[in-house]
Amino acid sequence: MSPKAQKPAPAETEEAPPELEDLPGVGQATADKLRESGYADLMELAVASPDDVATAADIGEGAAQKIIQEARKRVQVGGFESGSAILERRRKLGRISTLSKALDELLGGGVETQAITEVYGQFGSGKTQLGLQLSASVQLPPDQGGLAGEAVWIDTENTFRAERLAEIAKALGLDPTQALERVHVARAFNSNHQELLVPKAFELARERPVRLLVVDSLTAHFRAEFLGRGALAERQQRLNRHMHELLRFGDVFNAAILCTNQVSARPDVLFGDPTGPIGGNIVGHTATYRIYLRKSKPPRRIARLVDSPNLPEGEAVFSVTGEGIRD
Ligand code: GTP
Ligand code: MG
Repeated sequence: MSPKAQKPAPAETEEAPPELEDLPGVGQATADKLRESGYADLMELAVASPDDVATAADIGEGAAQKIIQEARKRVQVGGFESGSAILERRRKLGRISTLSKALDELLGGGVETQAITEVYGQFGSGKTQLGLQLSASVQLPPDQGGLAGEAVWIDTENTFRAERLAEIAKALGLDPTQALERVHVARAFNSNHQELLVPKAFELARERPVRLLVVDSLTAHFRAEFLGRGALAERQQRLNRHMHELLRFGDVFNAAILCTNQVSARPDVLFGDPTGPIGGNIVGHTATYRIYLRKSKPPRRIARLVDSPNLPEGEAVFSVTGEGIRD
């Protein structure tokens, strides 16, 4: 008998899942405020930060900390985990195929769930095309490289193209009309709106099987709004917080997060590559996988895996074709 069998499945021990109000210190008013801010169940509270919960529920940070701890106990989150438990969780990781074998291999089998994959590169390097491809691929059944899921798309630059998505979906044998129904797009008008769309995505993902969240682009609004040295610290702080919310989404829904990012000239770099991704270290350290895309002889692109906890650095060549991403 496996050790897992000793722990009864939740369905056998609980008649109904615990509600926010079941937590000590959470009355109706607090529960309502929490729900309004997007904390709909204990899992979401368990992985939240005291600071965020305090603000959301209008309570002190100490009280927030206690609520989070209690939520963690109830849903069994937090504390130390054995290596085998971590392995078990990793087994639940899903992967979405890019439809390029080389690119999938570079990523260890496709774009991973419970992680942020950041793609950065110059205009036309294929970042948006990759997002569109994944929004179609995610809908495929698992044996074809998908997760039989849906996608949420936060569009900051108005570059989402439904016609193009339909074309890419059709090439996969999906019904284009149905495929478009399964991609939920919101236009973000500024960085603040962009941040507010994450709790909206949480709401949506409670109703629909969302397994992919695309943010295209992650940094454009932040870059445009926070100008000059004086604004840098706040920009980085806001980006950091935003990315952690995205990660939380990935954890809660076992979804993949794809963020696109542009490159900018870095006046501080005198030698080596004078261009780098916007957001610098904050974005780089929070992203689980970081891919640098560059143009090669058309229609080819070169992807370089820059930063990964468990995969070797390397490069893959793929093409942007009429049908989408291919080798
Ligand atoms: P920015 O958002 O401007 O930073 O660029 P990006 O990296 O998002 O580029 P994007 O993914 O939009 O790539 C644009 C390129 O993809 C075009 O220059 C084309 O080479 C290719 N592409 C886009 N649409 C099509 C299409 O319908 N057919 C083909 N064959 N190629 C396409
Ligand atoms: Mg783009």
